[in-house]
Formats: sequence, C-alpha cells, structure tokens
Amino acid sequence: MRFSEANHGANAGLGVARDFLEPVKQQFPAMSYADLWILASYAAIEFMGGPDIPFTAGRKDATDDSACPPEHMLPDGHFHKGSGDDDYDHPGPGTAAYVRWVFNKMGFNDREMVCLIGAHALGRCHTNASGYDGPWTRAPETFSNEYFKLMLEDTWTVRSWGGPVQYENSKSGADLMMLPADIVLVEDPAFKAICEEYAADYDLFAKEFAVNFKKLTELGFTEWGLKWCARAPTRHAVACISLPDFVSLAAAVIAVCSALSPLSKACRLTLMILVCLRRYETTAAKAGIVAAVGAVGYAATKK
Ligand code: HEM
Repeated sequence: MRFSEANHGANAGLGVARDFLEPVKQQFPAMSYADLWILASYAAIEFMGGPDIPFTAGRKDATDDSACPPEHMLPDGHFHKGSGDDDYDHPGPGTAAYVRWVFNKMGFNDREMVCLIGAHALGRCHTNASGYDGPWTRAPETFSNEYFKLMLEDTWTVRSWGGPVQYENSKSGADLMMLPADIVLVEDPAFKAICEEYAADYDLFAKEFAVNFKKLTELGFTEWGLKWCARAPTRHAVACISLPDFVSLAAAVIAVCSALSPLSKACRLTLMILVCLRRYETTAAKAGIVAAVGAVGYAATKK
C-alpha cells in the first residue's frame, strides 16, 4: 500500500494510519511495513479489548508497483440503486452476492466473512474518505459484538441526505449507520443466522474473529495463509530468513510490541521463542536464538 494501491477508493483514509506508524518504521527499520501494519492492527484490537492474536513476522515488502492488485478487488461501499447493483445475478456493491464474491475469492466462507465484517463495531465512516457518514456502534473504540446486536435489534431505514445510500437506526435515535453491504447480513437468511449466533455470544465472536483475522492477514504469506486453512499447523514464513536477519527482526518485533502493547509482552516473547524453536533444528541454534530473543525481550520489558 505504498504504491498505487494507496489510491484505491477502498483504501481512502488509511493514509492517516500509515502516517501514524511511519515514525515507528523509522525507529525499527528491520521490520517490514507489512509486518508493522499487521502487528499494529493486532495491538489495536487487543488494546480495544478484543482477542490477543498471535503474530507471525516475516512479510516481505514489495519494492515497486508491479505487486499491486488491480482496483475493485477490495470491498467497495458504493451502491447505485436501480443500476443493477441490487440484482443478485449481477453482484454489485450492496448485495449479498457481492459480499460473497469479495470474500470467496480470498477463501472465506459465509461464517468467516460475517465474522470479519463484525469489525465494523469499530471506527466510523468519514465523508472525506468513503463519502459515508457516522459510526456503526456507540462504543467505536471498544471491540464488541454490538454491531450484530444493533443490526438485529434496531430498525434500519434509508437515511434521507445528500450522500450515498446508507441506513440509520430509526428505532433508537438515528445516531448510527449501516452500509448497504452491512444490511445484507440480515437480509440474507444464511448470513442472518450467523449474525444471530454472534449477537448472542461475544466469546464465540471474539474467538472466531481472532482466527479469521489472522487468516486474512496471512493470505499469501504463511503456508497456513496460502492454504486458506484456519486450523492447519502453522509453519512460519519467517523460517525462510537467515539467522542474523531473524535476530534483528525478533528484536524489532519485541521492541515494537513493547511500544504498542505493553500488556502482552510476555505472551509475544513466548510466541517468538516458540517460532524459533520450530524453525531451528540444532540444539546450538535453538539455544542461541532463545538466548538472543530472551535478552532482547528482557531488555524491552525493563524499559
Ligand atoms: C463487504 C465488506 C466491507 C465493506 C463494503 C466495507 C466498507 C467500509 C467503508 C465504506 C468504511 C468507511 C471508510 C471511511 O469512510 O473512513 C469502512 C470502515 C471500516 N472498516 Fe470496512 N468494509 C468491509 C469489510 C471490512 C472488514 C472485513 C474489516 C476488518 C476485518 C473492516 C474494518 C473496518 C474498520 C475498522 C473501519 C473503520 C475505519 C475508521 O474508523 O477509520 N471492514 N468499511
């Protein structure tokens, strides 16, 4: 997203997050942008009360524009009523068929895509980014299953305003919003049944979200991601890098974790050591890497 992809409509507004993380990248250049952005998203989810997602480092940054996908592969919010976008045979943004088209091509089934879109409990739409306006929930900085509860419990009607088609909660105050792509989650019977499960059980939602978000953020990266299989044993792409590179990467990961998410330093340190143990077969290499990671981790926790 440092090349033409940054200007894709579906990425509008993300420059704010990229700029926010740039000083961290400058401080820890051993970590790739891709790793840093994903690690920051895990830390943000955890910080907002969501699940702790085990982080796997080792993504390599593209060096030029040639690795960018074409536009319109990511979910597009725009919905043009009466233009055929609401026709299930010709999926356009704002239809269940469109939501399935977006996520099926990345290997996600109905349950996984509904779960991921539950991230709309967080944040809001901005008129100067997507053109849509407002938050989905009243606690947009807290990870929760409120999105599913509100979707099912309120009454959603098309907002009368000058912007793109979006819905407002007409039962409880018109202070929240839903996109057409959100509303299809309760219009489509298969999607709706899944929304009902998540609305009734926060722990179930949080547990499945952690697995699905890890899968989303490892597509094309770990074997786990490449196989689109949520439960296969994880083999880490970090295994491909040399020992010295790994040590500096481990140091950067731990230092960034320490800066972003002090609560889980110990967990992430343990994970890092486990990753190393899986990778390096000889006892000497294992001992060396445990010592190196342990020393860096210890230093980080002392800061
Ligand atoms: C059909 C699928 C999806 C569509 C159509 C969609 C569309 C949108 C749109 C239009 C915005 C508003 C952007 C802005 O104006 O700033 C947005 C924001 C957001 N989306 Fe999605 N999205 C989809 C799936 C997802 C998924 C899978 C996730 C995460 C796993 C996600 C997480 C978020 C978050 C956290 C925000 C708030 C950003 C902020 O506060 O700046 N969305 N989405």
